[in-house]
Amino acid sequence: MLGRLNHVALAVPDLATATAAYRDTLGARVTAPQALPEHGVTVVFVDVGNTKIELLEPLGAGSPIAAFLEKNPSGGMHHVCYEVDDILAARDQLKAAGARVLGDGNPRTGAHGKPVLFLHPKDFFGTLVELEQA
Ligand code: CO
Repeated sequence: MLGRLNHVALAVPDLATATAAYRDTLGARVTAPQALPEHGVTVVFVDVGNTKIELLEPLGAGSPIAAFLEKNPSGGMHHVCYEVDDILAARDQLKAAGARVLGDGNPRTGAHGKPVLFLHPKDFFGTLVELEQA
Protein backbone atom coordinates (compact mmCIF):
# COMPACT_ATOMS: atom_id res chain seq x y z
CA MET A 1 0.00 0.00 0.00
CA LEU A 2 2.63 2.48 1.12
CA GLY A 3 4.59 4.24 -1.60
CA ARG A 4 7.23 6.95 -1.59
CA LEU A 5 7.74 9.57 1.09
CA ASN A 6 6.11 12.63 -0.46
CA HIS A 7 7.06 15.12 2.23
CA VAL A 8 7.84 15.75 5.89
CA ALA A 9 5.83 18.65 7.33
CA LEU A 10 7.17 21.08 9.91
CA ALA A 11 4.84 23.45 11.74
CA VAL A 12 6.43 26.89 12.13
CA PRO A 13 5.25 29.97 14.02
CA ASP A 14 6.24 32.37 11.22
CA LEU A 15 6.34 31.22 7.61
CA ALA A 16 8.29 34.22 6.29
CA THR A 17 11.08 33.67 8.82
CA ALA A 18 11.16 29.92 8.15
CA THR A 19 11.16 30.49 4.37
CA ALA A 20 14.08 32.90 4.69
CA ALA A 21 16.01 30.41 6.83
CA TYR A 22 15.55 27.58 4.30
CA ARG A 23 16.13 29.78 1.25
CA ASP A 24 18.89 32.09 2.44
CA THR A 25 20.67 30.24 5.27
CA LEU A 26 20.28 26.67 4.01
CA GLY A 27 20.35 27.60 0.31
CA ALA A 28 17.26 25.58 -0.67
CA ARG A 29 14.62 26.23 -3.31
CA VAL A 30 11.33 27.23 -1.65
CA THR A 31 7.98 27.64 -3.41
CA ALA A 32 5.73 30.69 -3.04
CA PRO A 33 3.29 30.57 -0.09
CA GLN A 34 -0.02 28.85 -0.78
CA ALA A 35 -3.06 29.51 1.43
CA LEU A 36 -5.17 26.40 2.08
CA PRO A 37 -8.20 27.74 3.97
CA GLU A 38 -9.89 24.32 3.90
CA HIS A 39 -6.96 22.95 5.92
CA GLY A 40 -6.40 26.07 8.08
CA VAL A 41 -2.77 26.47 7.00
CA THR A 42 -0.51 28.39 4.66
CA VAL A 43 2.23 26.22 3.16
CA VAL A 44 5.46 26.40 1.22
CA PHE A 45 7.45 23.44 -0.08
CA VAL A 46 11.20 23.11 0.12
CA ASP A 47 12.66 20.93 -2.64
CA VAL A 48 15.45 18.74 -1.27
CA GLY A 49 15.79 16.49 -4.30
CA ASN A 50 14.69 13.10 -2.97
CA THR A 51 11.66 14.49 -1.13
CA LYS A 52 10.09 17.76 0.02
CA ILE A 53 9.80 19.58 3.31
CA GLU A 54 6.42 21.25 3.85
CA LEU A 55 6.50 24.30 6.12
CA LEU A 56 3.10 25.01 7.71
CA GLU A 57 1.87 28.20 9.33
CA PRO A 58 -1.59 28.52 10.95
CA LEU A 59 -4.25 30.24 8.81
CA GLY A 60 -7.40 31.64 10.39
CA ALA A 61 -9.10 30.85 13.68
CA GLY A 62 -9.23 27.22 14.77
CA SER A 63 -6.27 26.13 12.66
CA PRO A 64 -5.55 22.42 13.23
CA ILE A 65 -1.88 23.27 13.91
CA ALA A 66 -2.57 26.02 16.49
CA ALA A 67 -2.62 23.60 19.45
CA PHE A 68 0.56 21.93 18.17
CA LEU A 69 2.35 25.29 18.09
CA GLU A 70 1.10 26.13 21.58
CA LYS A 71 2.85 22.96 22.80
CA ASN A 72 5.86 23.55 20.52
CA PRO A 73 6.21 27.34 20.29
CA SER A 74 9.39 27.28 18.22
CA GLY A 75 7.86 24.77 15.76
CA GLY A 76 8.43 21.08 15.17
CA MET A 77 7.76 18.03 13.03
CA HIS A 78 4.02 17.83 12.41
CA HIS A 79 3.42 14.93 10.01
CA VAL A 80 4.89 12.66 7.36
CA CYS A 81 3.15 12.14 4.01
CA TYR A 82 3.33 8.87 2.10
CA GLU A 83 2.05 8.28 -1.41
CA VAL A 84 -0.54 5.62 -2.17
CA ASP A 85 -1.90 4.50 -5.54
CA ASP A 86 -5.55 4.33 -4.50
CA ILE A 87 -6.54 6.41 -1.49
CA LEU A 88 -10.02 4.93 -1.07
CA ALA A 89 -8.69 1.37 -1.16
CA ALA A 90 -5.96 2.38 1.32
CA ARG A 91 -8.54 4.00 3.62
CA ASP A 92 -10.83 0.97 3.57
CA GLN A 93 -7.92 -1.39 4.25
CA LEU A 94 -6.68 0.77 7.14
CA LYS A 95 -10.14 1.14 8.67
CA ALA A 96 -10.65 -2.62 8.46
CA ALA A 97 -7.35 -2.98 10.35
CA GLY A 98 -8.65 -0.66 13.10
CA ALA A 99 -6.79 2.54 12.19
CA ARG A 100 -8.63 5.81 12.72
CA VAL A 101 -9.01 8.21 9.80
CA LEU A 102 -9.34 11.85 10.89
CA GLY A 103 -12.27 14.08 9.93
CA ASP A 104 -15.28 12.56 8.20
CA GLY A 105 -13.14 9.84 6.61
CA ASN A 106 -13.42 11.25 3.11
CA PRO A 107 -10.34 12.47 1.22
CA ARG A 108 -9.87 16.22 0.87
CA THR A 109 -7.84 18.08 -1.72
CA GLY A 110 -4.30 18.65 -0.47
CA ALA A 111 -1.62 21.16 -1.33
CA HIS A 112 -0.73 19.38 -4.57
CA GLY A 113 -4.35 19.31 -5.79
CA LYS A 114 -4.55 15.59 -5.04
CA PRO A 115 -6.74 13.72 -2.53
CA VAL A 116 -5.31 13.35 0.99
CA LEU A 117 -6.30 11.72 4.27
CA PHE A 118 -4.81 11.90 7.76
CA LEU A 119 -4.44 8.96 10.15
CA HIS A 120 -4.62 9.28 13.92
CA PRO A 121 -1.14 9.68 15.43
CA LYS A 122 -1.97 7.33 18.33
CA ASP A 123 -2.40 4.51 15.81
CA PHE A 124 1.04 5.15 14.27
CA PHE A 125 3.40 5.54 17.22
CA GLY A 126 2.87 9.20 17.92
CA THR A 127 3.27 10.50 14.38
CA LEU A 128 0.46 12.03 12.36
CA VAL A 129 0.43 10.29 8.95
CA GLU A 130 -0.88 11.88 5.76
CA LEU A 131 -1.66 9.73 2.73
CA GLU A 132 -1.70 11.32 -0.71
CA GLN A 133 -2.94 9.64 -3.86
CA ALA A 134 0.05 9.94 -6.19
CO1 CO B 1 1.31 17.50 4.30
